Amino acid sequence: MAASPFMREALAAARRVRGTTSPNPYVGAVLVRDGRVVATGATAPYGGPHAEAAAIAAAPDARGADLYVTLEPCFPFEGKRTRPCSEAIRDAGIRRVVVALEDPDARVAGRGIALLRHAGIEVEVGDGADEARDLLRPYIKHRQTGLPYVIAKFAASLDGRTATATGDSKWITGEAARDLGHQQRAWVDAIMVGSGTVLADDPSLTARPGGKLSERQPVRVILDARGRVPATARLFKEPGTTIVATSYTAPATWKGELTAAGALVLECEAGATGINLDQLLRTLAQRSIVSIWAEGGAALLGALFDARHVDEVWAFIAPVVIGGGGLPAVGGEGVLRVADAWRIADPIVESVGNDILVRGYTGDWSPGG
Ligand SMILES: NC(=O)c1ccc[n+]([C@@H]2O[C@H](COP(=O)([O-])OP(=O)(O)OC[C@H]3O[C@@H](n4cnc5c(N)ncnc54)[C@H](OP(=O)(O)O)[C@@H]3O)[C@@H](O)[C@H]2O)c1
Repeated sequence: MAASPFMREALAAARRVRGTTSPNPYVGAVLVRDGRVVATGATAPYGGPHAEAAAIAAAPDARGADLYVTLEPCFPFEGKRTRPCSEAIRDAGIRRVVVALEDPDARVAGRGIALLRHAGIEVEVGDGADEARDLLRPYIKHRQTGLPYVIAKFAASLDGRTATATGDSKWITGEAARDLGHQQRAWVDAIMVGSGTVLADDPSLTARPGGKLSERQPVRVILDARGRVPATARLFKEPGTTIVATSYTAPATWKGELTAAGALVLECEAGATGINLDQLLRTLAQRSIVSIWAEGGAALLGALFDARHVDEVWAFIAPVVIGGGGLPAVGGEGVLRVADAWRIADPIVESVGNDILVRGYTGDWSPGG
């Protein structure tokens, strides 16, 4: 169902706090009286008030008002840090609640709505459901599967290469595409790369939209099973947290050097191509990492695709040809028949400066109806 004008305002409030609330969902709420918005709220960072509580607190008087909210108000459960919103709504004397989406978290799953109805409050569900579901894909996947939502990003030439045969990759795409990449980095919980990329490029892996370092930096996750990335790598000096996922067998002295450089060393099981991705992703999800922007290189992206962990693709295609032994965008085993290829349904294709961005969902996981 398309969103009503008030739900559109609630969705806009949710979008403004996207990426700042993990592991909580980013939710927006508006309070309406006599056909006018009297207060707006959005989820505060973890531990702070939820959107509904923020809207109620911002309103001079919420009694008799209608509340539009992008996700079902939460319900009391053990270990909850904030006051349940369904109780706060009931106690504020709100007359009617319009909810876009039922909460997929098993601890809520319809109970918040039931509590409101039981208290005699009129509740409507489904206004703006498609947009809310789209906006909350990372949260829904995290709650449904215990895994983070993975977005595979690469910048490729017209012939599908992301670096030359020598490993040089700076810069394939133009400034506008790179800036869009930084905007995306700024809202996800983590950026992920393989050790090959750190060794080749010595990247900072920070979010710098508009050339300015974001206040909140995503966690950097480096996969390095053999202990090859040196403690002198640039990214260890950058603000924010760096996690290095490695094996039990990597040298203990190297682990010590990385820890001394400020990294969090995470020991993981071995997988077919390095670190066991399933175990690593589950561990990251338990550490409140709900969304991951996986930037490559080819080996890591290939392994993520092969294991069907990629939910969304952002492919920037530049009008350049590299040829020769240039590195592919995605390695791994791939598929043997085109019919088995990952095909993005309803891709969004847009121009970004002189480059083209093709993005969309792989369909390996989908949030359901
Ligand atoms: N244009 C772009 O968008 C772009 C983006 C990124 C990188 N690049 C380019 O890509 C090149 C690097 O790509 P790459 O393919 O050589 O390296 P990579 O994918 O960055 O790193 C691969 C390494 O990661 C480690 N690893 C640990 N667990 C893994 C797992 N489960 N699956 C896969 N790898 C795992 C392995 O090394 P260990 O055995 O040591 O753990 C593996 O050799 C560079 O030239 C870089 O410039 C281009």
